[in-house]
Amino acid sequence: MVGILAPMTEGQQQKKVILSGMQPTNDLTIGQYCGALRNWVELQHEYESLFCVVDLHAITVRQEPAKLRKRTLDVAAMYMAAGIDPDVSTLFVQSHVPEHTQLNWVLTCLTGFGECSRMTQFKDKSAMHADNVNVGLFTYPILMAADILLYNADLVPVGEDQRQHLELTRNLAERFNFHYSPTFTVPEPFIPKVGAKIMSLQEPEKKMSKSDPNEKATIFMVDTDEQILSKVKRAVTDSGTTIVYDEKRPGVANLMTLYSITTGKSNAEIEREFAGLGYAEFKDAVGHAIVTFLRPVRERYVAIRSDEDALKATLKRGAEAARERARKVLRKVYKKTGFVEF
Ligand code: TRP
Repeated sequence: MVGILAPMTEGQQQKKVILSGMQPTNDLTIGQYCGALRNWVELQHEYESLFCVVDLHAITVRQEPAKLRKRTLDVAAMYMAAGIDPDVSTLFVQSHVPEHTQLNWVLTCLTGFGECSRMTQFKDKSAMHADNVNVGLFTYPILMAADILLYNADLVPVGEDQRQHLELTRNLAERFNFHYSPTFTVPEPFIPKVGAKIMSLQEPEKKMSKSDPNEKATIFMVDTDEQILSKVKRAVTDSGTTIVYDEKRPGVANLMTLYSITTGKSNAEIEREFAGLGYAEFKDAVGHAIVTFLRPVRERYVAIRSDEDALKATLKRGAEAARERARKVLRKVYKKTGFVEF
């Protein structure tokens, strides 16, 4: 209607909507920063963006309340330190917007038991947490679908491991639209081209993970310069001596990837730079490059995180903006579902 009354000027053109989120289950890693957060920062200007900290998802695995509370704020502060601008994007905590759980229920009643059973992440996680295979872990992807559909997101920047959840989200959107009437945008996954996948420093065949029990395997965004240098120095390589990119030598290849990401140099340039030099010199250079790359983010993080009142006020503002939109969509959904209007 607005479009008819007031023709849109160029600046007001409808931007596509993106939404993404991370779980506050551990400190963020350099892998999450390079693979996800940095992309979000770029995308926020091109799209209408919503970024949330998905604390509701986090409790599908047992959490210590005090830690969950702290980490939720940590992750939000890290989003901002990475460059998510709360004046440009809507930045909020999932549990602050109750419409997520409300839509979740409606979608749950549209999801087949078999559909959830097929989710590979459920299979993996239930094997990993065999002592706590709760129903929330099973229905986790439906809540994720609610996160996305509630804002009619067009694009969802996620990793390859979330592709199946996105497929379910699309199916649920189409199912609702078909059974009732067109309501939800059917979102597309927005998966960055592979190329810069960062692997574990200790088992370079495995992806670097925030939940790796071996702390030396992972570079966290909050690591001190000394911790970074020491982890890189102790990174597993192989019995070779040369610094050349070879997928069959995953340890050296991973350090080259890290050096390339943090300096912008190509593999060929790196090979030339370290021709005739050994692992010690190379690791020293990689460690220092990572330190230089991460330090400004960490410094911004420390500053943002040290003012918790301001951070909470920012998140409150974000949640209010998110709710404003979520409420409208949920009202439509409830009405179409057949709930008597309140
Ligand atoms: N499941 C996602 C992950 O583990 C996190 C997530 C929850 C998410 N809700 C989302 C990602 C909505 C994108 C959009 O990575």
